[in-house]
Amino acid sequence: MESSKQVKQAIALEAYEELAERYSQHAEQKAENGYIEHPAMRKQIGAVEGLCILEAGCGPGFLSKYLYDHGAERVVSFDVSPKMIEFAQARIGKKAECHVADMAQPLGFLKENQFDLVVSSLAIDYVLDWSVPLNEFYRSLKKGGRLIFSIQHPLASYNWYKPKSDFGVQLVEAYWRGFGGKPVRMPDYYRSFSEVINPLLQAGFQLKELVDARPIPELREYQPERYKRYEHMATFMVIEANK
Ligand SMILES: C[S@@+](CC[C@H](N)C(=O)[O-])C[C@H]1O[C@@H](n2cnc3c(N)ncnc32)[C@H](O)[C@@H]1O
Repeated sequence: MESSKQVKQAIALEAYEELAERYSQHAEQKAENGYIEHPAMRKQIGAVEGLCILEAGCGPGFLSKYLYDHGAERVVSFDVSPKMIEFAQARIGKKAECHVADMAQPLGFLKENQFDLVVSSLAIDYVLDWSVPLNEFYRSLKKGGRLIFSIQHPLASYNWYKPKSDFGVQLVEAYWRGFGGKPVRMPDYYRSFSEVINPLLQAGFQLKELVDARPIPELREYQPERYKRYEHMATFMVIEANK
């Protein structure tokens, strides 16, 4: 594993600043987000009426808006990309409580034992040392609170990036071409299964469930080729853990 001292600025900040508008416009219609990750996370989250929720790496606010639309009492959202936060504020509207913050750093704006639920979609992948965000999530959750987050599935990540080693955490990159316009160079981390599970346990969480996300049946009609591709391919993993 690299030393965390080597990584100062969030590795994906530049890429997401460049991609923010296109991501906000297109992600919900994409097979990977709208038809695999969003439904898998939302199913795992379940009912949210009256809950106080933190969303980490909220991007343009799809999930925060969904949580408010489904009765959440309060949603605090943050992302490292100021442009993403602008889109999130516009999408969520009057109730938006959005911050620009890097989850690889301590999150001073969070109080202890504040949230019933912490959610994070496809964002913690970009953090080298998970002990920092996981300790902050743990601290800010009430006792018995839930953490639900999604990551690129380690198998998908391995097949996609072909990292130099199967073990540990490896800095990798790819060019994203799926959002139209100029391809965006996206740095990321591949991490082995132990690097996903052990940091959770070390932060004090109890692992509740791992879900290999599958496409919803609607994708078969909407984009049959994509459905065929993802029907037997593990793309994302949703993880639920409890404080
Ligand atoms: C794939 S997008 C997902 C956005 C949103 N969660 C969604 O599902 O639509 C990844 C998001 O993580 C954010 N991100 C990356 N590194 C981060 C960090 N260190 N702290 C906070 N957010 C980060 C990016 O700016 C981007 O908005």
